[in-house]
Amino acid sequence: MSTEPTTPILSVAGVEKRYASGLTALAGVDLEVRRGEIFALLGPNGAGKTTLISIICGTVTMTAGTIRVDGHDIVKDYRRTRSAIGLVPQEIAVDIFATVWNTVRFSRGLFGCAPNPAYIESLLRDLSLWDKRDSKITELSGGMKRRVMIAKALSHEPTLLFLDEPTAGVDVNLRRDMWAVVRRLRERGVTIVLTTHYLEEAEEMADRVGVIDKGRILLVEDTADLMDKMGKRRVTLALQTPMTAIPPELAGWPLELLSDGQRLRYSFDTHAEGTGIAALLKRLGELGIDFTDLDTERSSLEDIFISLVERA
Ligand SMILES: Nc1ncnc2c1ncn2[C@@H]1O[C@H](COP(=O)(O)OP(=O)(O)OP(=O)(O)O)[C@@H](O)[C@H]1O
Ligand SMILES: [Mg+2]
Repeated sequence: MSTEPTTPILSVAGVEKRYASGLTALAGVDLEVRRGEIFALLGPNGAGKTTLISIICGTVTMTAGTIRVDGHDIVKDYRRTRSAIGLVPQEIAVDIFATVWNTVRFSRGLFGCAPNPAYIESLLRDLSLWDKRDSKITELSGGMKRRVMIAKALSHEPTLLFLDEPTAGVDVNLRRDMWAVVRRLRERGVTIVLTTHYLEEAEEMADRVGVIDKGRILLVEDTADLMDKMGKRRVTLALQTPMTAIPPELAGWPLELLSDGQRLRYSFDTHAEGTGIAALLKRLGELGIDFTDLDTERSSLEDIFISLVERA
């Protein structure tokens, strides 16, 4: 029953979930989330992300396993652990005829917290909702509704916030605003677990990522390490004269002719000693293969994710 800083804020051990339909949504999940981090849970549709979050938040019961929030068992100590958690669910669910202010204030009351108008004001100001405090939810745009959901989830001052697909269907600008909100929360000491289908989002935001597929965690890793370890860089050359095949003289080089025959792609590990690009360009010169342009890029978390899930 420790609440030392070293205790993980969330610890999931051997969690299984079989729904009444007989479907196994979680097949033994172990996961630890560190205090103060932003953790992204990635996985395809149906992987079990929402099921896991719902179990942690107490709206779905697990078939087997143990979960601790800040060292406290979520079953034995339900009230205490639930009040430490904020949840922004995947589906927007609020009384659309209530005002923004009342929605957030009422939610705080549900957790048995004393009223704190100053806190709610700061929350609404942070989320750029202050001007809308007296508007009914039904009068807000989709992006504003999402921010109301975040305000509602934070109304009782939780230390662990779950955001289930916070930016699904949200435009690029608003997505950036939401990222800024999440970062500010983290600066204030809130630990954040988010699920997303936008790999760019995980790459940009998360300290660590966990990949889940078919109810199993495939890996958990520092985002930067993962990018480093599995990331590749590539150089694409626009050819002066299109090719139908890679010349035999270049066999043995990690080259790929892109579908149109107009571009040649060379891939290499980010941490390889020397890139071999100079040697390649020299060889191309000797063979009289000219190019008009050269482009370099790094593989994204998206490429890594696809290759992982395919392998599994
Ligand atoms: N109430 C339920 N009863 C039966 N099966 C369910 C129930 N809720 C979810 N499932 C099933 O459990 C599996 C995991 O669903 P879950 O919603 O956890 O996935 P997810 O990773 O959140 O997917 P998405 O990215 O689409 O939100 C799916 O096969 C889903 O059909
Ligand atoms: Mg989901």
